[in-house]
Amino acid sequence: MTSVTLRNLQKTYDNATEPAVKDLNLEIKAGELVALLGPSGCGKTTTLKMVAGLHDVTEGEVLFNGVAVNNIKPEKREVVMVYQNYLLFPYMNVEDNIGFGLRMRKVPKAEIADRVGKMLKLVQLEGFEKRKPSQLSGGQKQRIALARALIIRPKILLLDEPLSNLDAHLRDEMREMILNIHREFGLTTIFVTHDQEEAVLLADRIALMFDGVLQQYSPPKEFYEKPRTKRIASFFGNHNRLYGVLQGTVVHTAIGDFATEQVGIPDGSKVCLVIRPQSVLLEHSGANCIKAVINRIIYMGTYIRYRITVDGNEWDIMGDPHPLAGYEEGKEACFTLPKDKIWLIPETLETQETPERI
Ligand SMILES: Nc1ncnc2c1ncn2[C@@H]1O[C@H](COP(=O)(O)OP(=O)(O)O)[C@@H](O)[C@H]1O
Ligand SMILES: [Mg+2]
Repeated sequence: MTSVTLRNLQKTYDNATEPAVKDLNLEIKAGELVALLGPSGCGKTTTLKMVAGLHDVTEGEVLFNGVAVNNIKPEKREVVMVYQNYLLFPYMNVEDNIGFGLRMRKVPKAEIADRVGKMLKLVQLEGFEKRKPSQLSGGQKQRIALARALIIRPKILLLDEPLSNLDAHLRDEMREMILNIHREFGLTTIFVTHDQEEAVLLADRIALMFDGVLQQYSPPKEFYEKPRTKRIASFFGNHNRLYGVLQGTVVHTAIGDFATEQVGIPDGSKVCLVIRPQSVLLEHSGANCIKAVINRIIYMGTYIRYRITVDGNEWDIMGDPHPLAGYEEGKEACFTLPKDKIWLIPETLETQETPERI
């Protein structure tokens, strides 16, 4: 089992003015599945290639089990990378594609045949040995690419957007397979994606990057409940905002005071109060209550959406699917913000380029 540490890792491509990856610090535990998440161009592939040794690092270190590997060649790192566009050899059949890495390593033929057989079973493609890549679907090609990577028994598995070329149902299947394989082999895995839902479904922890800079590194749940910035909150879907000033544990806003449980933000700070649509309660509790006219009620089948305006901002609230007496379009109603569901983001954080140490 191998841990991966990235220490002050930086990559500036030749002729580029800005680094593609800036001062990246990340610890990935042995056996952990980490998603590297962020919009296109934020430096995910660049990071993965530095871990694989396919790109030189400009500054900083890549460490496996605490030992720097900067000067170790890719083929000696015991790392494999699986790409979005499969990169299978078109003229080789499936078994030759899968066995390729072992032939390069001069493994005896009988052992190769045995291990290829096991891999085909693992990726559920027994019987496909003699097919050429052109005779396979996208999902099957991706599974072959995975088998080809795993057959050499790597210590670290790097997956670069392996699901983006697959349609929805194949993506589900492949995601299951990646999770099963991760469970079975316990491989340290870094999974690159631009899709937050995918990252949430797969990862033990998510490293979110914007513009080459790590923004937040935490378990998926924390991105919803404790986003470090408004931009992170937005990246993880719908949330409601209200602005105010913090005094003690109370946020004073234009529409009233709201108690919170959050600690660690200095008194007098301007804050953005954030709450998720599903955390707002349709009830009048006295404390932490908002009174607002319901602009719209949208029946969604499994839940009901309520739209209200709070201090000039449009709010989205999810209620259960049974209409509630008194909660009608055009009428004023009460909504409660449970204090343990409120999250505060200091306004100063939005202008900071680099996050403080995470
Ligand atoms: N080989 C390269 N040479 C120069 N610039 C590159 C190269 N590869 C990527 N870049 C640039 O580095 C930035 C990060 O790219 P990349 O790591 O591929 O992002 P992502 O995988 O998150 O989409 C982008 O601005 C991209 O244009
Ligand atoms: Mg990429």
